[in-house]
Amino acid sequence: MADRRVFDLAAGSGLCAIAALSAGASEAAGADVDPFAAAAMGLNAYANGERVAVVRRDVLDDAAPDVDVILAGDCWYDARLAERVLPWLHRARDRGIDVLVGDPGRRYLPTRDLVELAVYDVRTTTELEDLDLKQGRVYALGPV
Ligand SMILES: C[S@@+](CC[C@H](N)C(=O)[O-])C[C@H]1O[C@@H](n2cnc3c(N)ncnc32)[C@H](O)[C@@H]1O
Repeated sequence: MADRRVFDLAAGSGLCAIAALSAGASEAAGADVDPFAAAAMGLNAYANGERVAVVRRDVLDDAAPDVDVILAGDCWYDARLAERVLPWLHRARDRGIDVLVGDPGRRYLPTRDLVELAVYDVRTTTELEDLDLKQGRVYALGPV
């Protein structure tokens, strides 16, 4: 991630953008349609001593941003969102942007387009999820 410009799609808390900055990214932006997410991103970045540029709108009809890497964490929980995210990520990939996907095994994950890179046990809570231990997988959008 060193010195790479990162765009965190559907960034939520901004976790992926902040982790990328901690891993040496030169800059990071996070996009989310939810105003609470946008506020959380700024606060979480500040609390971690990082700066994330917050994009508070739907970018999925836009051209891909001018970045080196797009991170898409947990974007395949909803059929309509899933339908829009994959073509946008493919257009970005076709422009030479590396695309990394993180997912806990959601129903609409397009596994045939993805190359698995890593798997992690992730402790969660049954207030949010169906199990208290899930496997989170990291994929690259092919071809790699
Ligand atoms: C399950 S959360 C994932 C958050 C974060 N990426 C993570 O892995 O922790 C999904 C996020 O997608 C956002 N979202 C839904 N539709 C979106 C869209 N069209 N553009 C940007 N964000 C969107 C939601 O507001 C929510 O914050």
